[in-house]
Amino acid sequence: MSKIAICGGQKLNGEIMVQGSKNAALPILAATVLSDEECVLFNCPDLEDVRAALKIIDWLGGDTEYSKHTATISGGNIHRYKIPEELMNSMRSSVLFLGPMLAKLKRAEISYPGGCSIGLRPIDLHIKAFRQLGVTVEEIGGRIYCSAEKIKPCKVNLLFPSVGATENIMLLCALSDGETQILNAAREPEIVDLQNFLNSMGAKISGAGSETIHIIGVEKLQKVQYNIMSDRIFATTVLCAVACCGGDVILRNINPNHIELMLSMLAGAGCNIITGENYVRIRCSKRLLGLGKVMTSPYPGFPTDAQALFMSALSGAEGTTVFVENIFESRYKHVPELIKMGADIIVDGRLAAVTGCNYLQGATVEAQDLRGGAALVIAGLSAIGDTVIGGIRHIDRGYEHIEETFKGLGANIRRI
Ligand code: UD1
Repeated sequence: MSKIAICGGQKLNGEIMVQGSKNAALPILAATVLSDEECVLFNCPDLEDVRAALKIIDWLGGDTEYSKHTATISGGNIHRYKIPEELMNSMRSSVLFLGPMLAKLKRAEISYPGGCSIGLRPIDLHIKAFRQLGVTVEEIGGRIYCSAEKIKPCKVNLLFPSVGATENIMLLCALSDGETQILNAAREPEIVDLQNFLNSMGAKISGAGSETIHIIGVEKLQKVQYNIMSDRIFATTVLCAVACCGGDVILRNINPNHIELMLSMLAGAGCNIITGENYVRIRCSKRLLGLGKVMTSPYPGFPTDAQALFMSALSGAEGTTVFVENIFESRYKHVPELIKMGADIIVDGRLAAVTGCNYLQGATVEAQDLRGGAALVIAGLSAIGDTVIGGIRHIDRGYEHIEETFKGLGANIRRI
């Protein structure tokens, strides 16, 4: 099993292109199932999760090709409505095929999805909404059986603005007869990207990015060529690494509005940030300052996916930062590993208090989940001495050759 080896302490300098967004690509890949015609997706990241989504589409009967960040999918032959357990287990987003399969084939059978173990991650909000929309859902022996001769469009009020549930409802109702409203919808930029993709196929969806999404169902969706948005969490990962290692880096292919809050927090911690159309420049030469209190919340709040990244960056800051993780209940699995590297962190339930230490020390650590794993890379880059990170299959789910990204910026990092 390969690992990542880092000899820390180098400043990061240079330019990088931000990769396509994983969290936008996955629902968009599921959406391609809705059309009988060819969909071409550009800026589609080369990731384990993308390959898992393409495997599901192949299994359902679609034709897929992937080369040089371009995925080409033809859904004309989609006929299977059952996704086997091993494909469901490959990632959490496999659940996003439920909506498109139901819309297209009138039935769907899946097991509970896999993915990072960062909390309970139930799908009750998806199921409740589907039932409201006229879908019969039965849960028997770990399998979920769904059928709907006809979707019954209505107002669906989400108890919590779940990203996945919002996307699944959009995917179910894009092809329907009537008007659906999602109230208390998730507002993440990836939801807007899904809306833009569906609309370029001929769907009639508006309101994404606000709390209310309107979907006027259409009969058919056509072929499309689409450029997937860039990955705001990848960009945040690089920004956090530069913040604590020091250096001067330009990130291209990124919409600064998508990471506005993170940029202002990094500026508050002492980094110099310049933004322009489609780029961000970060310069940092001083020890960072602790940020007081950082609470994760749905967009436009501070993203749970950036919590571990900021915690690593602030482990060596002057002063204290208290993180409050409000989205997932088990999202501090990186903390014991950071403590091995000398970090001073105390966890109490959803709180993690980080008191900046003078420096992190290289160590042998294990990634337990995707963003926690990326946080260990950040820690290793800024630490004194050698760090070896195991469990990097988690990191590969969301980052295209993370070691190449940082090597290109001058880090001493390699896959062994
Ligand atoms: C998506 C992102 C993930 C990010 C998360 C929150 C993708 C592929 N993944 O995950 O990177 O961390 O949003 O921004 O886009 N919940 C329920 N019942 C449900 C659905 C969710 O209780 O039916 C809970 C979850 O357990 C969690 C919270 O709601 O505590 C947020 O989940 P959700 O927004 O659905 O996240 P995902 O779509 O899984």
